[in-house]
Amino acid sequence: MLSLIGHTPLISLSRIEHDVPGVRLLAKAEWFNPGGSVKDRAAASIVADAESRGLRGSDNVLLDATSGNTGIAYAMIGRSLGLRVTLCVPKNANPQVLGILRAYGAEVILTDPLQGADGAIQEARRLAQAHPDTFVYLDQYNNPANWKAHYQTTAMEIWEQTKGTVTHFVAGLGTTGTFTGTSRRLKEFNPAIRVIAVQPDAPLHGLEGLKHLDSALVPGIYDPTLPDETLFISTEEAYQAAHRLLDQEGLLVGPSSGAALAASLRLANELAVSHIPGVVVMVFPDSGARYVAEGVFASPGDRPFSRW
Ligand SMILES: Cc1ncc(COP(=O)(O)O)c(C=O)c1O
Repeated sequence: MLSLIGHTPLISLSRIEHDVPGVRLLAKAEWFNPGGSVKDRAAASIVADAESRGLRGSDNVLLDATSGNTGIAYAMIGRSLGLRVTLCVPKNANPQVLGILRAYGAEVILTDPLQGADGAIQEARRLAQAHPDTFVYLDQYNNPANWKAHYQTTAMEIWEQTKGTVTHFVAGLGTTGTFTGTSRRLKEFNPAIRVIAVQPDAPLHGLEGLKHLDSALVPGIYDPTLPDETLFISTEEAYQAAHRLLDQEGLLVGPSSGAALAASLRLANELAVSHIPGVVVMVFPDSGARYVAEGVFASPGDRPFSRW
């Protein structure tokens, strides 16, 4: 199972590209990972790093805070390696996610929904301090093995899949691992590649997996000098972009993928009006299937059906 992580397809958004002449729009389809999201990469790297430091089998329990995809990745990897997993998750997390975590056999500790991801982090820290012999605190927000996963895999894949032609890289910030690791390596390959970070435009937002850094605990692995630009996207704009992907490309992706497309289109429009060619690579972290029940794709009747 672990060998299935990574090597995801790079999808050409060939219909949407028509609106931005001269600019290619390519999306890394991270829902092809076995746990269904980009977070399989970070979780596999973090668990391998913890193992290399020595775990005492099932006496040690892997512990972290997560609001969704990382939890699924830890639970899946833990089950496959025979390691116990405890996860601190905000109580208002997607019920389907909670079901998946429990199906894999993870212990789930529900935290104050009003405190969101930060409340889950505080609870994980408290547990790690209170029971140092039981828990191995993986701390995805401060663990270099998180961004290194993307430095070693995601960036290499993008470089190879674009045959070195990538000009812009666009990714949302959650733990910031995807953006940090991929950007660092791509800039080593070619310092001219511009890297663009994406954040929600407000503290309260519907972009699961993404953080509004001004109002959140800033991850220790985040390097604020790395982005050439940060684009702030509203929930509405991200949802519209996700609908557009469904309508025009037949891709059902989550809100953070919509945010990545919305940011990429802002950038691509600027390039197109200035007649500057570009190869924009964005990350689509997960599928939209889980968000259907949350109403992200409601009112399909309001959306025109176009024949291509
Ligand atoms: C759906 C989704 N999008 C984006 C991200 C952000 O990725 P990263 O934590 O590498 O910044 C996450 C992280 O959990 C996520 O679950």
